[in-house]
Amino acid sequence: MTARIIDGKALADAVRLDVARRVQELKQQGIVPGLAVVLVGEDPASQVYVRNKAAACEKAGLYSRVIRLDADITEAALLDQVDQLNQDDRVHGILVQLPLPRHMDAAKVIEAIDARKDVDGFHVSNAGLLMTGQPLFRPCTPYGIMKMLESEEVSLWGAEAVIVGASNIVGKPMAMLMLAKGATVTLCNSKTRDLGAQTRRADVLVVATGKPGIVTGDMIKPGAVVIDVGINRTEQGKLVGDVDYPSAREVAGAITPVPGGVGPMTIAMLLVNTLEAAERSVVATPVA
Ligand code: GUN
Repeated sequence: MTARIIDGKALADAVRLDVARRVQELKQQGIVPGLAVVLVGEDPASQVYVRNKAAACEKAGLYSRVIRLDADITEAALLDQVDQLNQDDRVHGILVQLPLPRHMDAAKVIEAIDARKDVDGFHVSNAGLLMTGQPLFRPCTPYGIMKMLESEEVSLWGAEAVIVGASNIVGKPMAMLMLAKGATVTLCNSKTRDLGAQTRRADVLVVATGKPGIVTGDMIKPGAVVIDVGINRTEQGKLVGDVDYPSAREVAGAITPVPGGVGPMTIAMLLVNTLEAAERSVVATPVA
């Protein structure tokens, strides 16, 4: 069997088109949805991500602001910057690009973001709301994956979902979203014994570890849906995922490519979250 390739780029384009239409509607009410992205330091991968996020915003008609700060800025100065953005009515979404320099406490910085502007969905309030089944913002990568599964008509009801990688950004919120759709969820981590025994049970397998090739074809159940969140650059400069694509493609029923799979969907869902934050701000405005 050769797997069907899930085209994340095409789906992301469709989502972005829909966002652009809704942005125009909102503009007619005098609101321009705005996203502020804060980048501390010069991590090369983060610079590319931030550039892509800003470009996607502008293309969809959102207001975008990128705040670049030196790597040696103090935590207090960053918290002050976040507070200014919390107060700024033109900014509906705030994203502090991770990772932060080592001298900063990322959890403290995320907690400083107004939860109503936390378009990453990383604030403890938003994590708690997601966990209790009343999400305000869903973290963008797992949210994008849910959209892809929906568009591929993959039913999670009663399915075995296995997630490799238990980060706050992907694995944990992914587990909550899949659980809410009726999947039996297994969340694996770096200590999991016999990873293949877990992954081979999966009807839907999500891999988000940052370790290229950690999942190979022999670890996949024939016909499974495989979602590869990894973006790794090889020594030859090629982009590869966490899944060994050539061997996985021969076994899986459907698979996301890298690039062109999950990555474009993450950015598209960031636009959705920012738009919805702006839409909620209209509803929240008291009438005179
Ligand atoms: N670094 C890697 N992925 C993300 C993300 O989704 N949001 C933020 N803020 N930083 C990241």
